[in-house]
Amino acid sequence: MTSHRLTPTDPSMAAEGFALFRDAYLRARRAIPLLPELTEDHEARLRRRVERAFARGGFAVWHGDSLRGFMIAGPPFAFRGSTAALVPEYGHAVAEGEETTLVGPLYAAVAERLAGEGVPLHLIGHFAADAVTTSSLFELGFGAVVRERLRDLSDVAVRDAARADHEAWLARVERVPQAAAWDRLAPLAAEHAAYYLESPLFMVKDASLEAAMADLEAHRSAGDAAYVVRDGDAPLAYLIVGRCPGESEGRLLAGTATAQVRSAFVVPAARRGGIGGALLQHAVDWARDAGFERLFVEHESANPLGAPFWRRHFAPFLVFSMRYVDRMA
Ligand SMILES: CC(C)(COP(=O)(O)OP(=O)(O)OC[C@H]1O[C@@H](n2cnc3c(N)ncnc32)[C@H](O)[C@@H]1OP(=O)(O)O)[C@@H](O)C(=O)NCCC(=O)NCCS
Repeated sequence: MTSHRLTPTDPSMAAEGFALFRDAYLRARRAIPLLPELTEDHEARLRRRVERAFARGGFAVWHGDSLRGFMIAGPPFAFRGSTAALVPEYGHAVAEGEETTLVGPLYAAVAERLAGEGVPLHLIGHFAADAVTTSSLFELGFGAVVRERLRDLSDVAVRDAARADHEAWLARVERVPQAAAWDRLAPLAAEHAAYYLESPLFMVKDASLEAAMADLEAHRSAGDAAYVVRDGDAPLAYLIVGRCPGESEGRLLAGTATAQVRSAFVVPAARRGGIGGALLQHAVDWARDAGFERLFVEHESANPLGAPFWRRHFAPFLVFSMRYVDRMA
């Protein structure tokens, strides 16, 4: 980084920072054109996010008077039994071709600040198509935790051998009435929460019926749609689809015509027989009928069942990676 200069950021650098982020977004969009177009509205929303990051402050790299990169972490929060901070997907960008040189020094500066604040878990959101940043982060000790994916609203692809089962399951999928309580799904939703405790996920989620009922009610009252497959009275599987709010995930999609698969679960005995694909087809139909342009899903990269399922049907656009450092004395 010989001819480069590292400085703290200041809010007056936000416009130049946004220009770097905008270029990175457009590069990502060339790789995955399903990312929303940078309309005036969408660009303004993303600019506000970058400005908020600069209001918080991080580090910048300069070549002469030209901003070549920046990295800014958000505030600390409790995560996986520890204290974490996230460099959001819009909280960093470097000039094209300078990733190998600049990502390391920028992260080193951010990490030093975080360690000084007693934050040992470092998270960063980065574009999946940016292979150089991804491998730089891997060399720095990061590993994937979450992937964000998109698909268009074309029909779900099914292998010829599975076509008959797919059609049969499609006919058995029922929409849960919006006006009814969704409580009957609660035991399955609680089983879904408990699934995350298993190896290799080891994620602690509240697997109580009460938590499942509250979660389902939040989806119902937000206008999400629930689809279910039943064996007699007993639900075997469900999928919930709705508008992508873009708050805690899918933030690059907030305010755009994007639907989101919010939750999906098939009981172990009924998996790998085509129920998931049939539920997904209903979600695609719902999204199309509701006027959305694309479907979003987010999943743990270590999910042994969800990851291959979503990989088969969706393309990745964002990765969240995580690194743990020892606390500074
Ligand atoms: C992810 C999940 C919902 C998928 O549901 P599913 O019913 O198993 O999905 P499908 O049966 O449609 O597809 C799964 C596999 O079975 C195969 N399959 C589908 N129909 C088939 C058939 N008739 N005969 C044989 N195999 C079939 C699919 O090709 C797919 O295989 P592949 O991944 O090798 O391509 C389910 O595994 C699950 O509940 N996992 C636990 C919870 C979870 O991970 N939820 C997602 C949270 S992000």
